Amino acid sequence: MQYRQLGNSDLTVSEISLGSWLTYGVGVDNGTALACVDAAFECGINFIDTANVYGQGAAESFLGEALSGRTRDTYVLATKLFFPMSKTDSGLSARQVQKQLDDSLKRLNTDYVDLYQCHRYDDETPLEETMEALTKAVESGKVRYIGFSEWTAPQIQAAIDIPGVVPFVSSQPQYSMIYRIPEAEVIPLCEENGISQIVWSPLGQGVLSGKYGKDLKTPSGTRAANPKMNYFMDRVLDKKLLNSINDLQPIATDLGISMAQLALAWVLREANVASAIIGASRPEQVLENAAASGIRLDQSVLQEIDTALEGCYKS
Ligand SMILES: NC(=O)c1ccc[n+]([C@@H]2O[C@H](COP(=O)([O-])OP(=O)(O)OC[C@H]3O[C@@H](n4cnc5c(N)ncnc54)[C@H](OP(=O)(O)O)[C@@H]3O)[C@@H](O)[C@H]2O)c1
Repeated sequence: MQYRQLGNSDLTVSEISLGSWLTYGVGVDNGTALACVDAAFECGINFIDTANVYGQGAAESFLGEALSGRTRDTYVLATKLFFPMSKTDSGLSARQVQKQLDDSLKRLNTDYVDLYQCHRYDDETPLEETMEALTKAVESGKVRYIGFSEWTAPQIQAAIDIPGVVPFVSSQPQYSMIYRIPEAEVIPLCEENGISQIVWSPLGQGVLSGKYGKDLKTPSGTRAANPKMNYFMDRVLDKKLLNSINDLQPIATDLGISMAQLALAWVLREANVASAIIGASRPEQVLENAAASGIRLDQSVLQEIDTALEGCYKS
């Protein structure tokens, strides 16, 4: 496993990290989920991402248990707030930052998180209030660094322009071969300001592994076939997209790697990406995906990928 520095922080994170949306505490049984966490540590993954809202606290509670036997400073733990935890609890107000952080720490069974992220931008709360509350959280020692997820370039710039507050070190956008939107504005702005990307759904929720094929039959045992986990999976109904993804298979075969590894190496070719946050429903997937760290794709391979996916990716 190779490691990268997370923005202007002193955190060093594994190029492949383990996420917990839909999987742990929700769609994957606890025994298998534990095996995934163990596999992650075995292959050098040191970075775990979660959020208060994943399973309404269930993912954090699972991780609190799963990580309890490990020395706290051997891994980097990230969580988030914003989405509703009850009818009255949501957003990024000072009160919510305090309350949701304390609730997350309790579930995660720890005194601090390494990275506390705003899961989305909050139009209802003045940005200054949020930044001051996050700064207090850092000063209290409960949070080491702060980040955001899916903020636009103007929102990021507005936060950078506030004087006297703790600066963001990470941005968590969706980013993959088939979703390249952050390249236009977010990555260049972050690069200039010591903020790294830690990217979500780098496998397009498994679609880029090639397992959904082109006959539109959903294979059993996959996220798309599981009613507890198949959210926002319309890509598996897009025949044109699946056909193009199929064209990536010979590229991966020529390199002697799997399609999932090709997709992960693709996001890691971008220097501003510190880590690709994978989901995994089986320990074998963790091992396969972790082995993508260190694979470098040359210019001709990148060109072949663009040709195969022409007209199919969002940019
Ligand atoms: N900030 C945000 O708004 C946001 C949003 C979404 C996610 N996230 C974070 O990003 C993490 C990753 O998101 P994601 O789970 O959508 O990522 P992903 O890595 O694109 O998809 C993960 C899913 O793909 C399948 N898969 C993984 N490796 C595979 C392999 N080698 N071969 C075949 N199938 C494979 C598994 O599903 P099956 O085996 O069940 O098919 C797995 O659960 C989340 O856990 C969360 O921490 C953040």
